[in-house]
Parts: sequence; structure tokens; C-alpha cells
Amino acid sequence: MNINSTVISGYQTLNDIGYLLKDRQHVLLVTDKNIGGIPLVQELIKQVCDKVATVKMVDSVPPEPSQHDVAAIVASLDTSGVDLVIGVGGGSVLDVAKLLSVLCVAHSPTLEALLNGEKPQSRTASLLIPTTAGTGSEATPNAILAIPEKETKVGIISPVMLPDYVVLAPELTTSMPAHIASSTGIDALCHLIECFTATVSNPVSDNYALIGLQKLFASLETAVAEPGNLAARLDMLWASYYGGAAIAHAGTHLVHAMSYPLGGKYHIPHGVANAILLAPCMRFVRPAAVAKFAQAWDLVPGADLSLSDEEKSVALVDYFAALVKRLKLPASLDELGIGSDHLPYLVEAALDVQRLMKNVPAPVSASDVRDVYLTLFPTQNH
Ligand SMILES: NC(=O)c1ccc[n+]([C@@H]2O[C@H](COP(=O)([O-])OP(=O)(O)OC[C@H]3O[C@@H](n4cnc5c(N)ncnc54)[C@H](O)[C@@H]3O)[C@@H](O)[C@H]2O)c1
Ligand SMILES: [Fe+2]
Repeated sequence: MNINSTVISGYQTLNDIGYLLKDRQHVLLVTDKNIGGIPLVQELIKQVCDKVATVKMVDSVPPEPSQHDVAAIVASLDTSGVDLVIGVGGGSVLDVAKLLSVLCVAHSPTLEALLNGEKPQSRTASLLIPTTAGTGSEATPNAILAIPEKETKVGIISPVMLPDYVVLAPELTTSMPAHIASSTGIDALCHLIECFTATVSNPVSDNYALIGLQKLFASLETAVAEPGNLAARLDMLWASYYGGAAIAHAGTHLVHAMSYPLGGKYHIPHGVANAILLAPCMRFVRPAAVAKFAQAWDLVPGADLSLSDEEKSVALVDYFAALVKRLKLPASLDELGIGSDHLPYLVEAALDVQRLMKNVPAPVSASDVRDVYLTLFPTQNH
């Protein structure tokens, strides 16, 4: 898959994106209420308003949007004439902006048709500016929507949704509360390690994954502890971008497949669900991915490089479990007060995510999935 986006990154790049608006007249700017209130974003909106003829704002994107949220946004909008869609936000906003860039185009498939697998042929010009680090949505062909009736999430997937421009501006991510910086950072880590170990991994995705892992291991904890540390924030934006690029060239597997039902059923934010699943899923996958786990371990700052590959792979899983704890993220569903009564539903729904289950580098049975979910309820009897 080609990622043809132009990426502009670095300090204070936001002051300087006027030229991306050249020849544009009618902008659709997509964000959410929190992000719209950030002073830097308000300055950005002013910059856009000063440069183009009309700006339509959508600031009602909720976290983890559902198909109905997007349908309501589409129904409330007149998109005729829009010649640039700008998304400023976390994965929720960027996914909706990607969909709107397709739905803006005359004779585009409807949202329902896209959900049923019809593929878009074109989109309007688009610029994506992530404020979390993150989903890497700015570098993936995916838009993920919750389907409340099925209590799970689905991906609408097409390379057409990859944007023309991406701006990685570290100043924009400094306002993330620590728990969001931590959980979205773990989402990026899952993208990187899952793509690195997926059956569909290849030298291109491995390259992205290794660079991303190195940046993430070096900077995630610093970024969370020191919100104003722009170097760490920029590293995290790149780690997230590379996670997205790795997804575009390979694909995630067990953590994401098992995480969708947790988001769909209990509305646990995506990064938190992934944090809970990271170590248990990697413990299951480890024996089938010893050499790659060892390669990833070598990138952890201060890692003991004298260990055997087998020992390194075990050390990496332990490091993941300890990292989730240090970041003060939940490590079980018990901690969220969730009972294990929905286990049969969770197992069936996770196995249904065939798009990702087929990427797991080891055979996975229903009882394997059940066993991994069971570890998330350590204080409940079964
Ligand atoms: N397209 C993809 O490839 C892809 C990959 C992974 C996840 N996703 C999807 O992305 C969504 C999750 O995105 P997310 O984890 O980035 O979170 P999010 O976009 O839902 O944002 C979480 C919360 O953080 C707030 N926030 C975001 N940036 C902020 C900032 N800089 N300062 C203050 N508050 C800020 C938001 O307003 C929101 O309340 C889910 O729907 C998930 O399924 C998509
Ligand atoms: Fe993710």
C-alpha cells in the first residue's frame, strides 16, 4: 500500500501551514469540543478562517464514535463545494474526518454502503493533524466505528482515505491529561508490536515498527511525566505515525481483535482496553515470536543485551506488564468493576474479528481466547 501523504513535522509548524490552504476556498474543519477549546487550535481555526472563503465546523465528534454519530453529523451538514477537509483531534476525530473526506464527494457511496464493504473511489483533499499519540490514524487506511447493536467495532478500510497532508505538531499534544497520553501511547505500542509480529509482517512494516518502537520505548514515560517536553512529544507523534504506517503495510492481531468487544460491550476507551490486554496477549503470542520479541527487547533503554533470545522475549512481556503498571493504567477488568458474566459473548465476538485474528502468529482456538480473557478477571472465581 502506498502512503503518499506529505508529512510536515517539528516545533511550531502550526504557525506555518498557510500554504497548505493555497487554492482552497471551502474548508470543512472537524474536531471535538475539548480540542476546539485549546488555544493553539483556536489560533489554527483563525488562521484557516483568514485564508479561505468559508469554513464549516463540526465539533461534535464524540470519543469512540458510532455509525449513528457519523450518520447524524452527515445528516446535519451541507458539504457541497467543500474542497478541503481538515481533521484536528485524536483518532475519533481523524477517523470521522477521513470518512467525511469521502462522503463529501458527489456520488460517493453512502455511509451504510461503506459499512457494507463498498469501496470509495475518491475523496476531497484532506489534512490530518493528530492531537493524541496515538492511533496513527493519519497514516492508516482505516476508520473505526462502534456498532452499538452488535456491541462491537468495525473498520471501514480503504487506501483512498489516506490524507494528502499530515502535520505532526508536538505542542498540540501537551494538553492531553496524563491518563490519555498513557493509554493512547499504549495503543501506539500495540500497533507497533502487533504489526512487527503479525503473520503479514514484511520488511517494510518491520522497518516502520522498529523505528517506532525505539522512539516509543525512549519517550513514552518521559512524555507522560513531563507534558511540556516537546522532544518526547514529537518522538511519540512519530512512534504513533510509524504505528499507523506499519498497520498500512501489515496489520494488528490479537490485542486489537480482543479489544474491539471490550470497547463495544463496556465502552472502555480503545487505548485502555489495549493496555489491559497487552501483556496477557503478548504472553500467549511469545513462544511463536521469540526472535522478533528479542529484537524489540534490544531497543528498550538499559535492556540486558546478554540474555538469550528466549530470555529476552520473556523480559519483553514482563516489561510490558510493568510499563502498564508504571503508567497507572488498569491491568484487569476487575479493576474496572466488570464481571466475567459476558465471557462467552467476548470470546465469540473476538473470534469474529477474522480480519485481525488471521494475523496472529500462532494458532488460536476459542479456548485460548477464553483463557486470555480469564486472566483479566484475577479475583473472580470460574
Ligand atoms: N484509524 C485507525 O487506524 C485507528 C487506530 C486505532 C484506534 N482508532 C480509533 O480511534 C479512536 C480513539 O482515538 P484516541 O485514542 O486518539 O482518543 P480520542 O480521539 O477518542 O480522544 C480521547 C479523549 O481525549 C481528548 N483529547 C484528544 N487530544 C487531546 C489533547 N491534545 N488535549 C486534551 N484532550 C485531548 C478528546 O477530546 C477525547 O475526550 C477509537 O474510536 C479507536 O477505535 C483508529
Ligand atoms: Fe489501536
